[in-house]
Amino acid sequence: TVCFLVLPLFAYALGSVPWGVVLTRTFTAVDIRTSGSGNIGATNVRRTAGTAWGILTLVLDVLKGWVPTFLAVYFVGTGGISKDLYVAVVLLAAFTGHLFPLYTKGKGGGKGVATAGGCFLAVSPAAVAAAVSIFLLLIFLTRRVSAGSLAAAALIPAVLWKFNHSLVFTAAGVLVAAGIFIRHRENIRRLAAGKEPPL
Ligand code: G3P
Repeated sequence: TVCFLVLPLFAYALGSVPWGVVLTRTFTAVDIRTSGSGNIGATNVRRTAGTAWGILTLVLDVLKGWVPTFLAVYFVGTGGISKDLYVAVVLLAAFTGHLFPLYTKGKGGGKGVATAGGCFLAVSPAAVAAAVSIFLLLIFLTRRVSAGSLAAAALIPAVLWKFNHSLVFTAAGVLVAAGIFIRHRENIRRLAAGKEPPL
């Protein structure tokens, strides 16, 4: 029971860790909040601090979604729809942490793509494989990471439904996609105006 209550809080606290900020502040001279797009995610870390730091940020941001969701899936027993609901609460807590971080009173959060990928990887690797394929295809075609992110986010509810047949996870996918779209407002504007910088 303690674990049952603690895990969503742990997910939110871990999801709140801005790995891009932590890594660039500790190991580089770059201030990502004022460089490039100003975002804390792997795309902007790569853009401003280099590919190695970008990859590390990506891995750590994926893990902060995956770890708590994995713990909920494999170690907290409830069963049936309540199990899916519990897992969804945990994964949404991690995702919300990334968008509205605890340590900065909800300010300066990221766009949620890597963390969402980690969250859904723990519930449906097949859905994430499909979303990642679209993500990479769009980046290949447009040279814009944001275009890949938006396409993958738009697809995630449908592929979660296709591979899991869980209404709860599909609904979580809709919420996550909405969060990602809202956080990409500026990118959407720049894409529409043909002003989004390429890779
Ligand atoms: O996942 C974030 C990506 O879609 C866009 O990042 O820095 O280009 O706004 P950025």
